[in-house]
Amino acid sequence: MEIEQTLILVKPDGVQRGLIGEIISRYERKGLKLIGLKLLQLPLVKAEELYAIHKEQPFYDRLIEFMTSTPIVAMAVEGKNAIKLARLINGVTDPLESAPGSIRGDYSTDITYNLVHASDCLENAKSELAILFSPEELC
Ligand code: CMP
Repeated sequence: MEIEQTLILVKPDGVQRGLIGEIISRYERKGLKLIGLKLLQLPLVKAEELYAIHKEQPFYDRLIEFMTSTPIVAMAVEGKNAIKLARLINGVTDPLESAPGSIRGDYSTDITYNLVHASDCLENAKSELAILFSPEELC
């Protein structure tokens, strides 16, 4: 089993709704280890880099505007199968499909304003972590 590192974001809606502690506790309770944590206003260039894969999507502009609107929390977590586990804890993107017990299943009704982000594969986890954290910021 692989020890992986992944990037998780609490999006602006999660911060505004006062859910930072609740959201972080879910990864911690599962056994994933926090190795980096910060509150920041996401710069436009970093939002564009993070979501470059969605550039042609009709929701892209709304997504970028949302992600840069108010502060987010970025965290790096580490653990066995951390990438898949973080996404299971988050729940799927579509609010009609996200299971009760997942973060989105419990707290979100909107496909864009969906509280959290987690990298979807090892390659993207590496590049997304590098967008948000310098090596010195990871413990
Ligand atoms: P995230 O996991 O950060 O990855 C891409 C984001 O784009 C996603 O969460 C949503 O916030 C947003 N998104 C994905 N699909 C749609 C969609 N069909 N309509 C609107 N927003 C979407």
